[in-house]
Amino acid sequence: MTKLNIVLDKRLSEKGVIFYHSIDFNKTPHIMTVGASGSGKSYLNKLIVAKCILKVQNSKAIILDFKADDYKFARETPRLFEFNKAKEGLELAYKEFSDRLQGNTDRSFRLKLIEELGSMLTYYEKKESEAIKSMIGNMIFMGRSLNYHLLISTQRPDSSLFNAGVRDSISTIALGNLSKEGKHMLFSGFSELTDERHGQGSGFLLLEGSKLHSIKVPLITNVKKLERYIRLGLER
Ligand SMILES: Nc1ncnc2c1ncn2[C@@H]1O[C@H](COP(=O)(O)OP(=O)(O)OP(=O)(O)O)[C@@H](O)[C@H]1O
Ligand SMILES: [Mg+2]
Repeated sequence: MTKLNIVLDKRLSEKGVIFYHSIDFNKTPHIMTVGASGSGKSYLNKLIVAKCILKVQNSKAIILDFKADDYKFARETPRLFEFNKAKEGLELAYKEFSDRLQGNTDRSFRLKLIEELGSMLTYYEKKESEAIKSMIGNMIFMGRSLNYHLLISTQRPDSSLFNAGVRDSISTIALGNLSKEGKHMLFSGFSELTDERHGQGSGFLLLEGSKLHSIKVPLITNVKKLERYIRLGLER
């Protein structure tokens, strides 16, 4: 059972009540963070990775940071893949995932963070980006039973990630104000709530495809500790 407190309930926090919404990785094995540049996706992604490493025994992470910007503090670790190494990192993760599919009985928790999937896909030629999408699709579909989890961030939600059946296995955290199309794609059916305005570090959490909450990202109080746990996850 892997359930982690990730974000605060925004309405309660405005009343001074600290209440976390937890994500149950058995129910929704994957997370997508969406929002415009500066909305706080990477800030939240780092919190999620550090929390997984701190709380889940034997958990390990792989980070693909296409922008080569946010993880400079972890450059000497073996599983950080920046810029044009991102595809190599994806292939490494996919190999580990496929090994589990093909009989490796290790089911320890694995988290694979893909920063800026949108930019990564546009960088590669069509054939390569199709191969990337198909690896990601397989990991999304089959990750749950293998304890293999994706944390994907993107400035614009990519419709190809929301094929039939996939959506319910992804928890979506949208930060800041989404475009009209973004809202429609992610939260159609929740129009009464999604008129709310949000800024950096606040937005919506959609859990299990059906439960929508207004949320606020908790403050990182100890950056050094956060970075230490991320590095640990990338090298242990
Ligand atoms: N919840 C928050 N509380 C305090 N500061 C925040 C919060 N979220 C983000 N910031 C700060 O705002 C800046 C931008 O955040 P971040 O890099 O996470 O945005 P982003 O959505 O990843 O943008 P991009 O799409 O350009 O990568 C950073 O300096 C970060 O430290
Ligand atoms: Mg970012």
